[in-house]
Amino acid sequence: MDGNGRWAKKRGLLRAIGHENGTQSVRQIVECTAELGIPYLTLYAFSTENWNRPKLEVDTLMKLLVSSLKKELKTLTKNKIRLNTIGKIEKLPSSVYKELQSVIEQTKNNDRLTLTLALNYGSREEITNCIKEISVKVKNNLISPEDIDDNIINNHLYTQNLPDVDLLIRTSGELRISNFLLWQIAYSELYFTDTLWPDFTKEHLHEAILNYQNRERRFGKTSEQLRK
Ligand code: IPE
Ligand code: MG
Repeated sequence: MDGNGRWAKKRGLLRAIGHENGTQSVRQIVECTAELGIPYLTLYAFSTENWNRPKLEVDTLMKLLVSSLKKELKTLTKNKIRLNTIGKIEKLPSSVYKELQSVIEQTKNNDRLTLTLALNYGSREEITNCIKEISVKVKNNLISPEDIDDNIINNHLYTQNLPDVDLLIRTSGELRISNFLLWQIAYSELYFTDTLWPDFTKEHLHEAILNYQNRERRFGKTSEQLRK
């Protein structure tokens, strides 16, 4: 989700207003994803690098998160949406951490859509953490180095309960991944759009999915093999 700041700047508004309007897009996209029957949606909401923004902006984002969680609990419940997170959420301000824990607990039995928020998330941090956990297990003879494979690595990432990413969408015209799910997007389809996040609507999501549906995912094979 990128482009909140530029959306606000274009209108001569404060960046905070851009973030506020961004939450409307979140609402719409979550609802649309559930309606389409897509079982997993992961939103990159706050990166490990976003701490380097001005304190005022970080505070605004944290406050917005708490108020959105409070406001949306009813809708999550109604739409059978389970909240999940990736990233070190225990390092977030305690008000945010508590609210997250509470919503996660209250939505844990919902099974229509798993909505994952990447918060204080960075893929390099995740991979580093994974290597540390596996190393400890190797040291304690719980895993032997020869047994380390894709599966073991997947099981030590924050995304251990999530499937691989099918489609990755980045808004606002930036052609970067910015430390998001680096391991998990090995075979994802990438979709970049110039639309700024606060302008990203259901129609834009439909467009991205139609584009995705017209791609051939070969996973290293040839087209001919896929048609057999
Ligand atoms: C994305 O919008 C929102 C978050 C990182 C939370 P930006 O704040 O990055 O918007 P731009 O890139 O300045 O336009
Ligand atoms: Mg940005």
